[in-house]
Amino acid sequence: METLRGIVLVIHLVGFATLFGAWAVEAVGARRITRVMSYGLLIAGVAGLALAAPWGTDHDMNYTKIAVKLVVLLAIGAFLGIGSARQKRSGSAPAPLFWLIGLATVANVAVAVLWR
Ligand code: HEM
Repeated sequence: METLRGIVLVIHLVGFATLFGAWAVEAVGARRITRVMSYGLLIAGVAGLALAAPWGTDHDMNYTKIAVKLVVLLAIGAFLGIGSARQKRSGSAPAPLFWLIGLATVANVAVAVLWR
């Protein structure tokens, strides 16, 4: 069970890396919102929900922290959705929404790692 939890955590981190990597490429490039960002968010979200259940670990779960991460993830989803809809209409993503995607992603890593 512990190994399986470890594998799900790896998938969670692959999702995060996909989201942040896709965003970082665009941050130094065209600053567009791409589908790869949404795929990363989906992977991190599904694996995160699986990790939110208390299996394969003897640590107590910090549900306040998990709820904060879920809210931030939903906010990133909203930024991606609204941003890409506007991008389709006007040809470019609104700058504040684009930067908020990266900022909120880093905020969720900070919550994950620094909040013990
Ligand atoms: C963009 C969104 C997210 C990012 C960037 C992210 C990032 C991370 C990172 C870097 C870790 C490893 C930290 C560590 O274990 O010390 C982690 C662990 C974890 N994440 Fe997330 N996360 C995200 C979304 C979520 C969501 C939505 C949930 C749950 C609803 C969640 C639940 C968890 C749990 C439970 C762990 C701990 C796993 C364990 O120790 O067994 N994450 N996350």
